[in-house]
Amino acid sequence: MSTDLSRLQELQVTDVIDRAQWPDGPPHELFAELRSGCPVHWSSSIPEYPGEAGFWSITTADDVHAVSRDWETFSSEVGGITALTNAIMPLELIQAMFIGMDPPKHDRLKALFQRGFTPRRIAEHEDEIRAITVGVLDGLSGRETVDLVADVAQPVVSRVIGSFMGIPPEDDAIWASLMTATLGASDPDLNPAGVEAVMQRDVPEIFERCQRLIAARREHPTDDLTSVLVHAQLDGQGLEEHEIVMGFFLLMAAGNDSTKATYCSAMRALIEHPDQRDQLLADPSLVPSAVEEALRMFPAFAHFRRTATRDTELNGAQIREGDKVVMWYVSSNRDETRYEDPDRFDVTRNPEHQAFGAGGRHFCLGTALARLELTILLEETLKRFPAMELAGRARFVESPFLNQLKVLPVALNA
Ligand code: HEM
Repeated sequence: MSTDLSRLQELQVTDVIDRAQWPDGPPHELFAELRSGCPVHWSSSIPEYPGEAGFWSITTADDVHAVSRDWETFSSEVGGITALTNAIMPLELIQAMFIGMDPPKHDRLKALFQRGFTPRRIAEHEDEIRAITVGVLDGLSGRETVDLVADVAQPVVSRVIGSFMGIPPEDDAIWASLMTATLGASDPDLNPAGVEAVMQRDVPEIFERCQRLIAARREHPTDDLTSVLVHAQLDGQGLEEHEIVMGFFLLMAAGNDSTKATYCSAMRALIEHPDQRDQLLADPSLVPSAVEEALRMFPAFAHFRRTATRDTELNGAQIREGDKVVMWYVSSNRDETRYEDPDRFDVTRNPEHQAFGAGGRHFCLGTALARLELTILLEETLKRFPAMELAGRARFVESPFLNQLKVLPVALNA
Protein backbone atom coordinates (compact mmCIF):
# COMPACT_ATOMS: atom_id res chain seq x y z
CA MET A 1 0.00 0.00 0.00
CA SER A 2 2.15 2.88 -1.21
CA THR A 3 -0.64 5.47 -1.34
CA ASP A 4 -0.38 7.94 1.56
CA LEU A 5 -3.26 8.38 3.96
CA SER A 6 -4.22 11.92 3.07
CA ARG A 7 -4.55 11.00 -0.59
CA LEU A 8 -6.66 8.00 0.37
CA GLN A 9 -8.93 10.19 2.41
CA GLU A 10 -9.26 12.50 -0.54
CA LEU A 11 -10.20 9.52 -2.68
CA GLN A 12 -12.92 8.59 -0.21
CA VAL A 13 -14.75 11.76 -1.10
CA THR A 14 -13.95 11.76 -4.78
CA ASP A 15 -16.84 11.05 -7.08
CA VAL A 16 -15.33 8.73 -9.63
CA ILE A 17 -18.05 9.53 -12.16
CA ASP A 18 -17.73 13.32 -11.90
CA ARG A 19 -17.23 14.67 -15.42
CA ALA A 20 -14.37 16.80 -14.15
CA GLN A 21 -12.49 13.51 -13.66
CA TRP A 22 -13.11 12.45 -17.26
CA PRO A 23 -12.03 15.45 -19.37
CA ASP A 24 -10.54 13.23 -22.06
CA GLY A 25 -11.57 9.63 -21.49
CA PRO A 26 -11.29 7.53 -18.35
CA PRO A 27 -9.17 8.85 -15.43
CA HIS A 28 -6.55 6.08 -15.56
CA GLU A 29 -4.33 7.62 -12.89
CA LEU A 30 -7.20 7.81 -10.45
CA PHE A 31 -8.14 4.19 -11.15
CA ALA A 32 -4.50 3.12 -10.62
CA GLU A 33 -4.55 4.85 -7.23
CA LEU A 34 -7.80 3.17 -6.32
CA ARG A 35 -6.49 -0.26 -7.33
CA SER A 36 -3.47 0.11 -5.09
CA GLY A 37 -4.98 2.06 -2.20
CA CYS A 38 -8.73 1.53 -2.11
CA PRO A 39 -9.74 -1.18 -4.62
CA VAL A 40 -13.39 -1.27 -3.53
CA HIS A 41 -14.25 2.40 -3.24
CA TRP A 42 -17.43 4.19 -2.16
CA SER A 43 -18.72 7.29 -3.99
CA SER A 44 -21.51 8.89 -2.05
CA SER A 45 -23.23 10.59 -4.98
CA ILE A 46 -23.34 11.07 -8.73
CA PRO A 47 -22.87 14.77 -9.54
CA GLU A 48 -25.27 15.99 -12.26
CA TYR A 49 -27.79 13.31 -11.20
CA PRO A 50 -28.73 14.32 -7.66
CA GLY A 51 -31.62 11.82 -7.52
CA GLU A 52 -29.28 8.89 -8.00
CA ALA A 53 -27.77 6.99 -5.05
CA GLY A 54 -23.99 6.54 -4.65
CA PHE A 55 -22.15 3.37 -5.60
CA TRP A 56 -19.23 1.06 -4.95
CA SER A 57 -16.44 1.09 -7.53
CA ILE A 58 -14.85 -2.30 -8.18
CA THR A 59 -11.47 -1.65 -9.77
CA THR A 60 -9.31 -4.82 -9.80
CA ALA A 61 -9.60 -7.72 -12.23
CA ASP A 62 -9.99 -10.32 -9.45
CA ASP A 63 -12.82 -8.41 -7.77
CA VAL A 64 -14.62 -7.71 -11.07
CA HIS A 65 -14.35 -11.42 -11.79
CA ALA A 66 -15.77 -12.32 -8.34
CA VAL A 67 -18.75 -9.96 -8.73
CA SER A 68 -19.43 -11.02 -12.29
CA ARG A 69 -19.53 -14.75 -11.43
CA ASP A 70 -21.82 -14.43 -8.39
CA TRP A 71 -25.18 -13.46 -9.85
CA GLU A 72 -27.03 -14.54 -6.72
CA THR A 73 -25.27 -11.91 -4.58
CA PHE A 74 -24.81 -9.36 -7.35
CA SER A 75 -27.98 -9.04 -9.41
CA SER A 76 -28.35 -7.56 -12.90
CA GLU A 77 -32.10 -7.36 -12.39
CA VAL A 78 -33.04 -5.63 -9.17
CA GLY A 79 -31.43 -2.27 -9.85
CA GLY A 80 -30.41 -2.17 -13.50
CA ILE A 81 -27.06 -2.48 -15.27
CA THR A 82 -25.52 1.00 -15.21
CA ALA A 83 -24.52 3.33 -12.38
CA LEU A 84 -27.54 5.50 -13.21
CA THR A 85 -30.68 3.57 -12.27
CA ASN A 86 -33.47 5.70 -13.68
CA ALA A 87 -31.92 8.95 -14.84
CA ILE A 88 -32.03 8.19 -18.57
CA MET A 89 -34.09 5.04 -19.08
CA PRO A 90 -36.69 3.69 -16.71
CA LEU A 91 -35.61 0.54 -14.89
CA GLU A 92 -38.55 -1.45 -16.29
CA LEU A 93 -37.19 -1.06 -19.80
CA ILE A 94 -33.79 -2.45 -18.81
CA GLN A 95 -35.47 -5.31 -16.93
CA ALA A 96 -37.34 -6.26 -20.09
CA MET A 97 -34.06 -7.11 -21.86
CA PHE A 98 -32.20 -10.27 -20.88
CA ILE A 99 -29.09 -8.21 -20.10
CA GLY A 100 -31.19 -6.84 -17.21
CA MET A 101 -32.53 -10.18 -15.96
CA ASP A 102 -31.24 -12.83 -13.54
CA PRO A 103 -31.55 -16.58 -14.02
CA PRO A 104 -33.73 -18.48 -14.70
CA LYS A 105 -35.49 -15.88 -16.93
CA HIS A 106 -32.17 -14.71 -18.35
CA ASP A 107 -30.89 -18.17 -19.24
CA ARG A 108 -34.00 -19.21 -21.16
CA LEU A 109 -33.92 -16.12 -23.36
CA LYS A 110 -30.18 -16.11 -23.88
CA ALA A 111 -30.27 -19.75 -25.01
CA LEU A 112 -32.73 -18.81 -27.75
CA PHE A 113 -30.72 -15.81 -28.88
CA GLN A 114 -27.52 -17.84 -28.90
CA ARG A 115 -28.86 -19.76 -31.88
CA GLY A 116 -28.29 -16.73 -34.05
CA PHE A 117 -24.72 -16.28 -32.82
CA THR A 118 -23.14 -19.70 -33.22
CA PRO A 119 -19.53 -19.54 -34.48
CA ARG A 120 -20.70 -21.23 -37.69
CA ARG A 121 -23.42 -18.64 -38.34
CA ILE A 122 -20.97 -15.80 -37.68
CA ALA A 123 -18.22 -17.29 -39.86
CA GLU A 124 -20.69 -17.53 -42.76
CA HIS A 125 -20.78 -13.72 -42.78
CA GLU A 126 -17.04 -13.16 -43.22
CA ASP A 127 -17.12 -12.46 -46.96
CA GLU A 128 -20.13 -10.19 -46.59
CA ILE A 129 -18.52 -8.19 -43.75
CA ARG A 130 -15.36 -7.77 -45.83
CA ALA A 131 -17.37 -6.61 -48.83
CA ILE A 132 -19.25 -4.07 -46.68
CA THR A 133 -15.97 -2.76 -45.22
CA VAL A 134 -14.23 -2.50 -48.59
CA GLY A 135 -17.30 -0.78 -50.05
CA VAL A 136 -17.29 1.88 -47.33
CA LEU A 137 -13.51 2.44 -47.67
CA ASP A 138 -13.86 2.66 -51.47
CA GLY A 139 -16.42 5.39 -50.95
CA LEU A 140 -13.74 7.61 -49.37
CA SER A 141 -11.65 7.85 -52.54
CA GLY A 142 -10.89 11.41 -53.52
CA ARG A 143 -11.27 12.73 -49.98
CA GLU A 144 -8.35 14.08 -47.99
CA THR A 145 -9.78 14.08 -44.49
CA VAL A 146 -12.64 12.12 -42.98
CA ASP A 147 -14.16 11.42 -39.58
CA LEU A 148 -13.45 7.75 -38.88
CA VAL A 149 -16.47 7.51 -36.56
CA ALA A 150 -19.12 8.84 -38.96
CA ASP A 151 -17.53 7.97 -42.30
CA VAL A 152 -16.18 4.46 -41.66
CA ALA A 153 -17.11 2.86 -38.35
CA GLN A 154 -20.81 3.78 -38.26
CA PRO A 155 -21.76 2.77 -41.81
CA VAL A 156 -19.87 -0.53 -41.53
CA VAL A 157 -21.28 -1.66 -38.17
CA SER A 158 -24.79 -0.48 -39.05
CA ARG A 159 -24.83 -2.47 -42.29
CA VAL A 160 -23.39 -5.57 -40.61
CA ILE A 161 -25.98 -5.66 -37.82
CA GLY A 162 -28.64 -4.45 -40.28
CA SER A 163 -27.96 -7.39 -42.56
CA PHE A 164 -28.03 -9.80 -39.58
CA MET A 165 -31.39 -8.48 -38.46
CA GLY A 166 -32.91 -8.11 -41.93
CA ILE A 167 -33.05 -4.31 -42.11
CA PRO A 168 -32.92 -2.75 -45.61
CA PRO A 169 -29.71 -0.74 -46.24
CA GLU A 170 -31.66 2.47 -46.82
CA ASP A 171 -32.79 2.34 -43.16
CA ASP A 172 -29.26 1.99 -41.69
CA ALA A 173 -28.76 5.71 -41.10
CA ILE A 174 -32.04 6.18 -39.25
CA TRP A 175 -31.38 3.12 -37.05
CA ALA A 176 -27.87 4.39 -36.33
CA SER A 177 -29.14 7.80 -35.30
CA LEU A 178 -31.91 6.34 -33.11
CA MET A 179 -29.46 4.05 -31.34
CA THR A 180 -26.75 6.70 -30.97
CA ALA A 181 -29.22 9.16 -29.45
CA THR A 182 -30.52 6.49 -27.07
CA LEU A 183 -27.15 5.18 -25.88
CA GLY A 184 -25.46 8.58 -25.93
CA ALA A 185 -28.48 10.30 -24.37
CA SER A 186 -26.33 12.32 -21.95
CA ASP A 187 -24.19 13.84 -24.73
CA PRO A 188 -25.67 17.04 -26.21
CA ASP A 189 -23.95 16.45 -29.58
CA LEU A 190 -25.40 12.97 -30.01
CA ASN A 191 -28.77 13.78 -28.50
CA PRO A 192 -29.44 17.50 -28.95
CA ALA A 193 -33.13 17.03 -28.12
CA GLY A 194 -32.29 16.18 -24.48
CA VAL A 195 -32.70 13.15 -22.27
CA GLU A 196 -36.54 13.30 -22.18
CA ALA A 197 -36.78 13.00 -25.96
CA VAL A 198 -35.24 9.55 -25.82
CA MET A 199 -38.19 8.00 -24.01
CA GLN A 200 -40.82 10.22 -25.61
CA ARG A 201 -39.68 10.01 -29.21
CA ASP A 202 -36.78 7.65 -30.01
CA VAL A 203 -37.67 4.52 -28.04
CA PRO A 204 -41.30 4.45 -29.30
CA GLU A 205 -40.04 4.81 -32.88
CA ILE A 206 -37.58 1.95 -32.35
CA PHE A 207 -40.40 -0.27 -31.05
CA GLU A 208 -42.72 0.61 -33.91
CA ARG A 209 -40.13 -0.13 -36.57
CA CYS A 210 -39.23 -3.40 -34.88
CA GLN A 211 -42.86 -4.51 -34.60
CA ARG A 212 -43.36 -3.89 -38.31
CA LEU A 213 -40.37 -6.09 -39.12
CA ILE A 214 -41.57 -8.85 -36.79
CA ALA A 215 -45.02 -8.84 -38.42
CA ALA A 216 -43.40 -9.14 -41.86
CA ARG A 217 -41.27 -12.11 -40.74
CA ARG A 218 -44.23 -13.89 -39.17
CA GLU A 219 -45.92 -13.74 -42.55
CA HIS A 220 -42.88 -14.50 -44.71
CA PRO A 221 -39.99 -16.24 -42.91
CA THR A 222 -36.47 -15.44 -44.20
CA ASP A 223 -33.04 -16.50 -42.97
CA ASP A 224 -32.22 -13.32 -41.02
CA LEU A 225 -31.94 -13.20 -37.23
CA THR A 226 -35.30 -11.50 -36.74
CA SER A 227 -36.92 -14.42 -38.54
CA VAL A 228 -34.94 -16.93 -36.43
CA LEU A 229 -36.21 -15.21 -33.26
CA VAL A 230 -39.80 -15.00 -34.48
CA HIS A 231 -39.89 -18.74 -35.22
CA ALA A 232 -37.56 -20.03 -32.46
CA GLN A 233 -38.83 -22.74 -30.09
CA LEU A 234 -37.29 -23.96 -26.84
CA ASP A 235 -38.99 -27.00 -25.26
CA GLY A 236 -41.96 -26.39 -27.53
CA GLN A 237 -42.30 -22.76 -26.44
CA GLY A 238 -41.65 -19.71 -28.60
CA LEU A 239 -40.72 -16.14 -27.65
CA GLU A 240 -43.40 -13.64 -26.73
CA GLU A 241 -43.72 -10.55 -28.94
CA HIS A 242 -42.30 -8.22 -26.26
CA GLU A 243 -39.34 -10.58 -25.71
CA ILE A 244 -38.47 -10.41 -29.40
CA VAL A 245 -38.85 -6.61 -29.48
CA MET A 246 -36.62 -6.12 -26.43
CA GLY A 247 -34.06 -8.62 -27.69
CA PHE A 248 -34.00 -6.87 -31.04
CA PHE A 249 -33.49 -3.54 -29.25
CA LEU A 250 -30.57 -4.99 -27.29
CA LEU A 251 -28.89 -6.45 -30.37
CA MET A 252 -29.34 -3.27 -32.40
CA ALA A 253 -27.89 -1.20 -29.55
CA ALA A 254 -24.90 -3.51 -29.04
CA GLY A 255 -24.35 -4.04 -32.76
CA ASN A 256 -24.49 -0.37 -33.69
CA ASP A 257 -22.22 0.84 -31.00
CA SER A 258 -19.58 -1.18 -29.22
CA THR A 259 -17.62 -2.45 -32.22
CA LYS A 260 -17.56 1.09 -33.62
CA ALA A 261 -16.03 2.30 -30.34
CA THR A 262 -13.26 -0.29 -30.26
CA TYR A 263 -12.34 0.16 -33.93
CA CYS A 264 -11.95 3.93 -33.55
CA SER A 265 -9.92 3.65 -30.34
CA ALA A 266 -7.72 1.04 -31.99
CA MET A 267 -7.09 3.21 -35.06
CA ARG A 268 -6.28 6.21 -32.91
CA ALA A 269 -3.78 4.15 -30.89
CA LEU A 270 -2.16 2.79 -34.06
CA ILE A 271 -1.79 6.29 -35.49
CA GLU A 272 -0.34 7.55 -32.21
CA HIS A 273 2.09 4.59 -31.99
CA PRO A 274 3.64 4.32 -35.46
CA ASP A 275 6.03 1.59 -34.29
CA GLN A 276 3.02 -0.59 -33.44
CA ARG A 277 1.33 0.18 -36.74
CA ASP A 278 4.54 -0.68 -38.61
CA GLN A 279 4.58 -4.08 -36.91
CA LEU A 280 1.03 -4.77 -38.13
CA LEU A 281 1.83 -3.55 -41.63
CA ALA A 282 4.88 -5.85 -41.73
CA ASP A 283 2.99 -8.80 -40.28
CA PRO A 284 -0.81 -8.64 -40.74
CA SER A 285 -1.16 -11.98 -38.91
CA LEU A 286 -0.77 -9.88 -35.74
CA VAL A 287 -4.12 -8.13 -36.33
CA PRO A 288 -6.17 -10.52 -34.13
CA SER A 289 -3.69 -9.92 -31.29
CA ALA A 290 -3.95 -6.15 -31.84
CA VAL A 291 -7.74 -6.48 -31.64
CA GLU A 292 -7.47 -8.12 -28.19
CA GLU A 293 -5.04 -5.45 -27.04
CA ALA A 294 -7.45 -2.71 -28.22
CA LEU A 295 -10.33 -4.43 -26.42
CA ARG A 296 -8.20 -4.55 -23.25
CA MET A 297 -7.02 -0.96 -23.33
CA PHE A 298 -10.18 0.65 -24.67
CA PRO A 299 -13.21 -1.38 -23.54
CA ALA A 300 -16.28 0.05 -25.29
CA PHE A 301 -18.23 0.07 -22.03
CA ALA A 302 -16.51 1.81 -19.13
CA HIS A 303 -18.59 -0.13 -16.65
CA PHE A 304 -21.52 -2.41 -16.01
CA ARG A 305 -23.32 -2.51 -12.72
CA ARG A 306 -24.87 -5.02 -10.33
CA THR A 307 -26.93 -4.55 -7.15
CA ALA A 308 -26.17 -6.44 -3.92
CA THR A 309 -29.01 -8.77 -2.94
CA ARG A 310 -27.65 -9.25 0.63
CA ASP A 311 -25.07 -7.79 2.97
CA THR A 312 -21.67 -9.06 1.93
CA GLU A 313 -17.94 -8.37 2.22
CA LEU A 314 -15.69 -7.80 -0.78
CA ASN A 315 -11.94 -7.23 -0.48
CA GLY A 316 -12.40 -5.64 2.94
CA ALA A 317 -15.44 -3.48 2.07
CA GLN A 318 -18.79 -4.02 3.79
CA ILE A 319 -21.42 -3.91 1.05
CA ARG A 320 -25.05 -3.65 2.11
CA GLU A 321 -28.10 -5.19 0.50
CA GLY A 322 -29.40 -2.79 -2.18
CA ASP A 323 -26.02 -1.08 -2.78
CA LYS A 324 -24.95 -0.36 -6.34
CA VAL A 325 -21.80 -2.26 -7.33
CA VAL A 326 -20.06 -0.83 -10.41
CA MET A 327 -17.49 -2.98 -12.23
CA TRP A 328 -15.02 -0.66 -13.95
CA TYR A 329 -13.68 -2.57 -16.95
CA VAL A 330 -11.59 0.47 -17.90
CA SER A 331 -9.72 -0.14 -14.63
CA SER A 332 -9.66 -3.94 -14.35
CA ASN A 333 -8.22 -4.23 -17.87
CA ARG A 334 -5.19 -2.22 -16.71
CA ASP A 335 -4.69 -4.10 -13.44
CA GLU A 336 -0.93 -4.21 -12.90
CA THR A 337 -1.16 -7.56 -11.12
CA ARG A 338 -2.32 -9.06 -14.44
CA TYR A 339 -0.48 -6.98 -17.03
CA GLU A 340 3.10 -5.85 -17.23
CA ASP A 341 3.25 -2.15 -18.02
CA PRO A 342 -0.55 -2.01 -18.43
CA ASP A 343 -0.72 1.45 -20.05
CA ARG A 344 1.56 0.39 -22.90
CA PHE A 345 -0.22 -0.40 -26.18
CA ASP A 346 1.47 -3.55 -27.47
CA VAL A 347 0.01 -5.24 -30.55
CA THR A 348 1.90 -8.47 -29.80
CA ARG A 349 0.48 -8.89 -26.28
CA ASN A 350 -2.67 -10.87 -27.27
CA PRO A 351 -4.08 -10.50 -23.75
CA GLU A 352 -7.03 -11.97 -21.94
CA HIS A 353 -9.27 -9.13 -20.74
CA GLN A 354 -12.69 -8.20 -19.40
CA ALA A 355 -13.95 -5.95 -22.22
CA PHE A 356 -16.73 -8.47 -22.93
CA GLY A 357 -17.44 -8.97 -19.22
CA ALA A 358 -15.64 -11.23 -16.79
CA GLY A 359 -17.31 -14.55 -17.46
CA GLY A 360 -20.51 -15.40 -15.69
CA ARG A 361 -24.05 -15.37 -16.97
CA HIS A 362 -23.94 -12.06 -18.85
CA PHE A 363 -20.78 -12.63 -20.84
CA CYS A 364 -21.20 -10.83 -24.17
CA LEU A 365 -23.26 -12.69 -26.77
CA GLY A 366 -21.60 -10.89 -29.67
CA THR A 367 -17.92 -11.70 -29.08
CA ALA A 368 -17.42 -13.76 -32.24
CA LEU A 369 -19.14 -11.15 -34.40
CA ALA A 370 -17.30 -8.25 -32.76
CA ARG A 371 -13.90 -9.95 -33.15
CA LEU A 372 -14.55 -10.77 -36.79
CA GLU A 373 -15.73 -7.23 -37.59
CA LEU A 374 -12.78 -5.64 -35.78
CA THR A 375 -10.23 -7.89 -37.48
CA ILE A 376 -11.63 -7.15 -40.93
CA LEU A 377 -11.97 -3.41 -40.24
CA LEU A 378 -8.35 -3.11 -39.08
CA GLU A 379 -6.97 -5.31 -41.88
CA GLU A 380 -8.75 -3.42 -44.64
CA THR A 381 -8.16 0.06 -43.21
CA LEU A 382 -4.44 -0.57 -42.78
CA LYS A 383 -4.15 -2.09 -46.25
CA ARG A 384 -5.90 0.83 -47.86
CA PHE A 385 -4.64 3.75 -45.79
CA PRO A 386 -1.31 2.71 -44.22
CA ALA A 387 -0.16 6.31 -43.68
CA MET A 388 -3.32 7.72 -42.07
CA GLU A 389 -2.69 10.56 -39.57
CA LEU A 390 -4.72 12.48 -37.03
CA ALA A 391 -6.21 15.67 -38.50
CA GLY A 392 -7.91 17.24 -35.50
CA ARG A 393 -8.96 16.59 -31.94
CA ALA A 394 -10.52 13.23 -31.11
CA ARG A 395 -13.49 13.80 -28.78
CA PHE A 396 -15.07 11.38 -26.31
CA VAL A 397 -18.80 10.80 -25.88
CA GLU A 398 -19.91 12.51 -22.67
CA SER A 399 -21.14 9.52 -20.74
CA PRO A 400 -20.20 7.64 -17.57
CA PHE A 401 -21.08 4.41 -19.37
CA LEU A 402 -19.73 4.57 -22.92
CA ASN A 403 -15.97 4.68 -23.41
CA GLN A 404 -15.93 5.84 -26.97
CA LEU A 405 -14.99 8.59 -29.39
CA LYS A 406 -17.71 10.59 -31.09
CA VAL A 407 -15.32 12.31 -33.52
CA LEU A 408 -11.97 11.10 -34.88
CA PRO A 409 -10.75 13.35 -37.72
CA VAL A 410 -8.01 11.78 -39.86
CA ALA A 411 -6.05 12.60 -43.00
CA LEU A 412 -6.11 9.60 -45.31
CA ASN A 413 -2.74 10.35 -46.97
CA ALA A 414 -3.62 7.95 -49.76
C1 HEM B 1 -16.36 -4.59 -29.16
C2 HEM B 1 -17.59 -4.97 -29.10
C3 HEM B 1 -18.35 -5.35 -27.85
C4 HEM B 1 -18.06 -5.16 -26.53
C5 HEM B 1 -16.84 -4.50 -25.93
C6 HEM B 1 -19.15 -5.74 -25.76
C7 HEM B 1 -19.22 -5.77 -24.38
C8 HEM B 1 -20.18 -6.40 -23.64
C9 HEM B 1 -20.18 -6.52 -22.19
C10 HEM B 1 -19.13 -5.94 -21.26
C11 HEM B 1 -21.27 -7.24 -21.83
C12 HEM B 1 -21.60 -7.71 -20.43
C13 HEM B 1 -22.63 -6.95 -19.69
C14 HEM B 1 -22.75 -7.34 -18.23
O1 HEM B 1 -21.83 -7.92 -17.65
O2 HEM B 1 -23.79 -7.03 -17.64
C15 HEM B 1 -22.00 -7.54 -23.05
C16 HEM B 1 -23.18 -8.23 -23.10
C17 HEM B 1 -23.88 -8.41 -24.27
N1 HEM B 1 -23.46 -8.13 -25.56
FE1 HEM B 1 -21.72 -7.31 -26.10
N2 HEM B 1 -20.08 -6.23 -26.63
C18 HEM B 1 -19.63 -6.03 -27.93
C19 HEM B 1 -20.26 -6.37 -29.09
C20 HEM B 1 -21.49 -6.95 -29.17
C21 HEM B 1 -22.20 -7.26 -30.39
C22 HEM B 1 -21.67 -6.99 -31.80
C23 HEM B 1 -23.38 -7.82 -30.01
C24 HEM B 1 -24.50 -8.32 -30.86
C25 HEM B 1 -24.89 -7.84 -31.95
C26 HEM B 1 -23.41 -7.88 -28.55
C27 HEM B 1 -24.46 -8.35 -27.80
C28 HEM B 1 -24.47 -8.46 -26.43
C29 HEM B 1 -25.59 -9.01 -25.67
C30 HEM B 1 -26.90 -9.50 -26.24
C31 HEM B 1 -25.21 -8.98 -24.32
C32 HEM B 1 -26.04 -9.45 -23.12
C33 HEM B 1 -25.61 -10.82 -22.68
C34 HEM B 1 -26.33 -11.30 -21.46
O3 HEM B 1 -26.90 -10.51 -20.70
O4 HEM B 1 -26.32 -12.51 -21.23
N3 HEM B 1 -22.25 -7.35 -28.08
N4 HEM B 1 -21.30 -7.04 -24.14
